[in-house]
Amino acid sequence: RNGLIVAIDGPSGAGKSTITRQLASILSYIYIDTGAMYRALALAVSRAGVSADADQQVLEICRQSELAFVRENGVSRITLNGEDVADLIRSPEISLLTSRIACKKAVRELLLVKQREMGKGGGVILEGRDIGTVVFPDADVKFFLSASAEERGRRRYLELKAKGEAVDLDQTVAEVIARDLQDENRDHAPLRQAEDAIAVDSTSLSIGEVVDGMVQVIEDRL
Ligand code: C5P
Repeated sequence: RNGLIVAIDGPSGAGKSTITRQLASILSYIYIDTGAMYRALALAVSRAGVSADADQQVLEICRQSELAFVRENGVSRITLNGEDVADLIRSPEISLLTSRIACKKAVRELLLVKQREMGKGGGVILEGRDIGTVVFPDADVKFFLSASAEERGRRRYLELKAKGEAVDLDQTVAEVIARDLQDENRDHAPLRQAEDAIAVDSTSLSIGEVVDGMVQVIEDRL
């Protein structure tokens, strides 16, 4: 293997994406945002006008969806059937729909195969909900990144507001909590901390502080 496999799991809004992107850049590792993969599938389902409850149709759309990551100006962006959808998948509607599609076993199996294929060579950081528990249970380093629900909701709110979206703080906090409940209580690969994961609570830490601490842990294992 060419470098370690690093797993970063945790609920939404804990700072996972920002932190993982920075870590990947510092270590010169490949960054795999597995949430973006589930989101892109949800976008495909939404565009097809299919209900999230229609298991067979949803699965068929997922099977036909070609996902890939492309690098643009040093940033990794996701494509769906060749189209850059990195910005389109971030809306609150797609976030909730993603969580409803990600609970389906057959959908998860499709992405599981793809994620293992992308990560098996090492030199990768995968970010998601089930990386340390299901996708790479023997990852070299596992982190579980969390923060209080209020803080996570506030961060998501600021992020959406900065993009010019009309958002409400209380509603954003409520959506973050609703999505966590769906992710934690599903039957297949629920969001939970792996026993051997290092727990990091980012509620009162800056991104820089969290990243520095994680780099130290990873370097110790190299
Ligand atoms: O991390 P992000 O917020 O982009 O993930 C969006 C949704 O995708 C999550 O709420 C979850 O339902 C699903 N997901 C998942 N397993 C992963 C990554 C994301 O179920 N490994």
